[in-house]
Amino acid sequence: MLSYQICIECNQRYDLDDIIYYCGCSGLIEVKHELDASLRWHDKVSCHPGLDPGSSKSGVWRFHQAVLPIAKPEQIISHPEGHTRLYQRDILSKWAGVNELYLKHEGENPTGSFKDRGMTVAVTQANRLGQKSLACASTGNTSASLAAYGAQAGIKTLVFLPKGKVAPSKLGQAIAYGAELKEIEGDFDAAMAQVLEASKEQGLYLVNSINPFRIEGQKTIMWELFEQLDWQVPDWVIVPGGNLGNTSAFGKAIGEAFEAGWIKSKPRIAVIQAEGANPFYQSFKQGFKDLKPVKANTRATAINIGQPVNYSKAKRIIKALNGLVEEVSDAQIKEAKAQIDQSGIGCEPASAATLAGLKKLVLAKEIKAKESVALILTGNILKDPVMD
Ligand code: F0G
Repeated sequence: MLSYQICIECNQRYDLDDIIYYCGCSGLIEVKHELDASLRWHDKVSCHPGLDPGSSKSGVWRFHQAVLPIAKPEQIISHPEGHTRLYQRDILSKWAGVNELYLKHEGENPTGSFKDRGMTVAVTQANRLGQKSLACASTGNTSASLAAYGAQAGIKTLVFLPKGKVAPSKLGQAIAYGAELKEIEGDFDAAMAQVLEASKEQGLYLVNSINPFRIEGQKTIMWELFEQLDWQVPDWVIVPGGNLGNTSAFGKAIGEAFEAGWIKSKPRIAVIQAEGANPFYQSFKQGFKDLKPVKANTRATAINIGQPVNYSKAKRIIKALNGLVEEVSDAQIKEAKAQIDQSGIGCEPASAATLAGLKKLVLAKEIKAKESVALILTGNILKDPVMD
C-alpha cells in the first residue's frame, strides 16, 4: 500500500507527511492511496477489508484503508463520528416534486455538523506528526469541530472567526471546548487569508478543507450514503456550497468507489449556493472561465463565503460528473428550512439550501420527478434554529 500527496495541477508528488496546502505551482493538493487489488470490494460489501471491525464504531475509521491507512489505532483521534441517519419524508418529496427523496443528516455528528468527519482525520494526521497548535478560519462549524477534537487530542487550538458573523451556539461551542478565539474585523474570506498567513509564520497546523486530510474523512459521507442505499447510487446528490470542501470530497469518493467497483454508476452532483454568496454559481454560468470573488452576504452564515479555497477541485468534479450549480435566495432557504423543520427533521439554514435548490431545479426541469435524489443536511437545527 502506497499513500502520498499530489498536486492536482502539475502532478508533483509529496510525501504523505509533508505539511503542504499549495504546490509550488499554486495548485491544490490531494491525497492518493494506491489500494492493492486485495483491498477492493468484490461482490459482498461486508467482505471489504476497509470495514475494520476494530474501528467500526466510527463511520469514518471503518473505512481506514481508504482514508488514512498509515494511521495506527493509538494515533487515531475519534469521537467516534459518522453513522448518520438517512431519512425519507413524503411531505418533503411532494413539496420538492420528486418521487424518491433521501435526506442524510450530517448534523447528527458529535459536534452537530459534517465537519467532524474531516476533522477526525486532519487531527489524527496532526497527532501523528506531533503538531503543537491547530488552527482554522471558520464561519462557525469548523471551529466547533476543531475545538472538540483538539481538546480530545490535548492539542492547543486557535480559531479565526469573522467578528459578529458566527451563530451564537457555534461560537459557544468553540469557547466551551477551550479554543483560543481570534476575532477578525472583516468576513470569512479575510479570516481565511489571515489564518493562512499565521500558519506559515507561526507553524500552526491548518485544518480548513484546504487540508487534504479533511477531504479524506468527508469522503465517507458518500460511501455511507451508498451503503445505506444498498450500493444503488441515487441519480442526484445535492449539497450546499461554501468553501467547496464537500463538493471536492464527494467527487473524489464517487470516483474512488466507481474505480474500486463498489458502485456501478455515478450520481450527478448539484451544488447550491446562496444568492448573496454565489461565486461558484457565477463561474459555472460562465462555463468556469474563472472565479470572481464576491463580497458575501447571506443569512445562511455557514456558507457566507465569497472566495472558496477549493474552487479548482470543485470545478473539476462538476465537469467530470456532469453536475450543476444553482443559487437560491435567503427567502427560499427560509421557506425550505421551515419545511424540513416542520417534517420533524430540522437543520440549520445552510443545509436547507439543498431542498430549496432541488425545488428550483425540478421547476426548471433539470431534475425529473422520477429521478432519485439525496440531500446532504450539513448542520444540526440547534446550530442556528430560528431564521429571522
Ligand atoms: N453547510 C454547513 C452547515 C457548513 O458549516 C458549511 C461550511 C457548508 C455547508 C459549506 O461546506 O465549505 O464544504 O462547501 N462551513 C465552514 C465552517 C466554512 O467554517 O464551518 P463547504
